[in-house]
Amino acid sequence: MAIKQKRVTTKKTATVELTKSASGNSGGSGIEPAKGKLGVMIPGMGAVATTFVAGVEAIRKGLAKPIGSLTQMGTIRLGKRTEGRSPKVKEFVPLAGLNDLVFTGWDIFEDNMYEAASKAGVLDRYLLDEIKPFLSSIKPRKAVFDHNYVKRIDGPNVKKGKNKMDLAEQLRDDIRQFKKSSGASRLVTVWCASTETFIEPSAAHQSIKAFENGLAKNDENIAPSMIYAYASLMEGVPFANGAPNLTVDIPAMLELSKQNEAPICGKDFKTGQTLMKTVLAPAFKARLLGLSGWYSTNILGNRDGEVLDDPGSFKTKEESKLGVLEHILQPAIYPELYGNIFHKVRINYYPPRGDNKEGWDNIDIFGWLGYPMQIKVDFLCRDSILAAPIVLDLVLFLDLAKRSAELRGLGIQEWMSFYFKSPMTAPGLYPEHDLFIQSMKLKNTLRHLKGEELITHLGLEYYD
Ligand SMILES: NC(=O)c1ccc[n+]([C@@H]2O[C@H](COP(=O)([O-])OP(=O)(O)OC[C@H]3O[C@@H](n4cnc5c(N)ncnc54)[C@H](O)[C@@H]3O)[C@@H](O)[C@H]2O)c1
Repeated sequence: MAIKQKRVTTKKTATVELTKSASGNSGGSGIEPAKGKLGVMIPGMGAVATTFVAGVEAIRKGLAKPIGSLTQMGTIRLGKRTEGRSPKVKEFVPLAGLNDLVFTGWDIFEDNMYEAASKAGVLDRYLLDEIKPFLSSIKPRKAVFDHNYVKRIDGPNVKKGKNKMDLAEQLRDDIRQFKKSSGASRLVTVWCASTETFIEPSAAHQSIKAFENGLAKNDENIAPSMIYAYASLMEGVPFANGAPNLTVDIPAMLELSKQNEAPICGKDFKTGQTLMKTVLAPAFKARLLGLSGWYSTNILGNRDGEVLDDPGSFKTKEESKLGVLEHILQPAIYPELYGNIFHKVRINYYPPRGDNKEGWDNIDIFGWLGYPMQIKVDFLCRDSILAAPIVLDLVLFLDLAKRSAELRGLGIQEWMSFYFKSPMTAPGLYPEHDLFIQSMKLKNTLRHLKGEELITHLGLEYYD
């Protein structure tokens, strides 16, 4: 019944966003409790995946803090500013606890998580050694991989199958086997593998039937990431995509996600430069400052940087990074301010920096009477340190969505746009890229789920 209600409300998204929650819907009762273990399955056991898993274990052991994670450190204001109610997010909605997480992964290399984390070079050796037995126990399953989709790497730990459907079946076996061996009551998949070459939606992506035909016929428009996603959704397991690959952003996956009540969300973790872009651009728009150019360049020396040195993989990333400004600045509505923007994004593979990316932005803006100004941003960031808490939040929120009677049948979880460079939306809707709109949307969704009033920031009642 709750699902039916929601289908009606989705059509009225704008109203729901602006008004107070009238439904008082599930009041929390439509959310099943987070009982038992939650299995986290990760295609791609590289820098991001190992930093995430090692981090969870370090936090469990009291060696570090979950900085950057909204689910762990964030609070949510409830009711009026005068009420002083701001519980932690994890105390407000029923999320799995860190101690309940169990992990598995797939990779084309045979390194266990300790070896992979050591090679990634993100975390200090002393920290890795404290948790070595745990990390060493997580060994990669054989991957579904095809060099044609990721040109810069190749590895030995790869499944063989008579066609793509056969490979999907093997992944489904892996999933069932992991569920059994780990004793997990629920599962979530997060793609942390390399960025695949650019693929456009094609006939094989248009329906579940066309997709399954394509799997059987080895259609070249079906990339390995799609085979993982298909296997996951077929098993009723939610799927998040950390890379900009097309993967679940096709009608077949949306259909499957709804049909099997396995939530999906956006693409490409929003971590460094794009995080900054989606903070600064809304500020320009709010103050009606014009923009004539935005030149973004990065130097990055990890394996991700190497993969992105390939033009096909870079194109996938470029599309994801370029999209944000247009949606935030709305040049069609503000042609004098944003109708003529030169926006360029470069990523340069530069091995000495490893995972410590440097992202430079040169931003040409103009103000009153058209006078030009410049802003320079130089973000010396750590890519995987920024991505790991996002993986954790996605795991916990996707599991929440799966346990929510109201959310699990919706397919796309737009309220999780906060975490992505390319949020997914219902067909025909433009995505919200502004970080603060995304944050409000996420928190209001949590309030709504629990039957709390939505926060509109109107506040006139304080002056009555
Ligand atoms: N770190 C960030 O800030 C950030 C932000 C946005 C997106 N991403 C994306 O997250 C992904 C992971 O980044 P990373 O730095 O960990 O990269 P990485 O190269 O360290 O790890 C990726 C791993 O995936 C493996 N792999 C490739 N194809 C596979 C397949 N088909 N099946 C199983 N394993 C496969 C590779 O062998 C590698 O070990 C990349 O796609 C990257 O673009 C990262």
